[in-house]
Amino acid sequence: MPFLSATLDRVKPSPTIAVTTLAAELKAAGRDVIGLGAGEPDFPTPEHIREAGKRAIDAGHTRYTAVDGIPELKQAIVEKFRRENGLAYTPDQITVGTGGKQVLYNALMATLNPGDEVIVPAPYWVSYPDMVRLAGGEPVEVVGAFENGFRITPDQLEAAITPRTKWLIFNSPSNPTGAGYSPDQLKALTEVLERHPHVWVMTDDMYEHIAFPGFDFRTPAQVAPSLYERTLTVNGVSKAYAMTGWRIGYAGGPTALIGAMRKIQSQSTSNPCSISQWASVAALNGPQDFLAENAKLFLRRRDLVVEGLNAAEGIDCPVPQGAFYVYPSIAGCIGKTSRSGSRIETDEDFCRALLEETGVAVVFGAAFGLSPCFRVSYATSDEQLKEACARVQDFCAGLS
Ligand SMILES: Cc1ncc(COP(=O)(O)O)c(C=O)c1O
Repeated sequence: MPFLSATLDRVKPSPTIAVTTLAAELKAAGRDVIGLGAGEPDFPTPEHIREAGKRAIDAGHTRYTAVDGIPELKQAIVEKFRRENGLAYTPDQITVGTGGKQVLYNALMATLNPGDEVIVPAPYWVSYPDMVRLAGGEPVEVVGAFENGFRITPDQLEAAITPRTKWLIFNSPSNPTGAGYSPDQLKALTEVLERHPHVWVMTDDMYEHIAFPGFDFRTPAQVAPSLYERTLTVNGVSKAYAMTGWRIGYAGGPTALIGAMRKIQSQSTSNPCSISQWASVAALNGPQDFLAENAKLFLRRRDLVVEGLNAAEGIDCPVPQGAFYVYPSIAGCIGKTSRSGSRIETDEDFCRALLEETGVAVVFGAAFGLSPCFRVSYATSDEQLKEACARVQDFCAGLS
């Protein structure tokens, strides 16, 4: 349609949202669907956080606030970074937006000029490459091989850097693979960046608190203090505190960058929801013990899903270090035909046939930049996960 902007040609709609929508439609039509597409915890926001939100409404915290966050929330974030990450930020180095998504987008909008490159390790969260394109930049994908636990190597990073490189986007534990970089593996990447002072680091630490035994979470500026001046440390309350709908994300970074991001936000959405900001103060300052409890719950589900998928013929499911996703390879299923006659040439074929024939909704790997694989979000009940794995096993057994 000629009326629409050419910018739209540079991006595609989120495939994860598309799968979730299709699964919901099938369910509404009466089909027995198990949705493993959505990337959000399946439990409610903790009560003390909900109460803080209600109190905020009654206290009249229902007006515009400072564009990038109330001082109370910025202070809570300063303390979070100090307490959990050993990072010293002052409130003027903190920004708060409508979800981590807006914070990442603001940073790209505030820094990219046409032709600027952003290194995006694949498999990636679906929004990174498209947000880079929307902001006028060029995503440069570097594939973390299945055999290397989906991690990129220092040599790969070195080879991807050009004079146009502006950012490396880093996400550990990762959506969609759950892969995490050990402190040593992360340090090896930061050593490459130390040799290239024009490259900044945008680290997305959204899954920090969903980390499993044996995995030691670290954020880049903590492992390499020399990078502190060119690192934006992004985080949020969505995944850790089961607050996806409240829409609060935040970041710490150099004041000049934070100021530029504020400018973008001031002319687009202004402040994030005032009530959500007060609830987030309660989340960050309140009890933290349930974070470990939740991680334990996800650990049990991870093991259940990894075992259940590895029992399916043609599927090879690695064991992730964190988050609530697994990213199995279906190389062993390619070239086969399902019981209903669907030919499986790609991971998209596999996922479509799986949904149509068994009602299990997962997202195909091509959406995340590494095929042939699919992503399972296991943020759902054990019963649903067991049933889904049984259906996948049966589907795979029927391939010939
Ligand atoms: C890796 C990653 N970063 C950022 C986000 C966005 O989170 P928020 O709800 O804070 O916008 C998500 C959500 O799925 C994610 O998986």
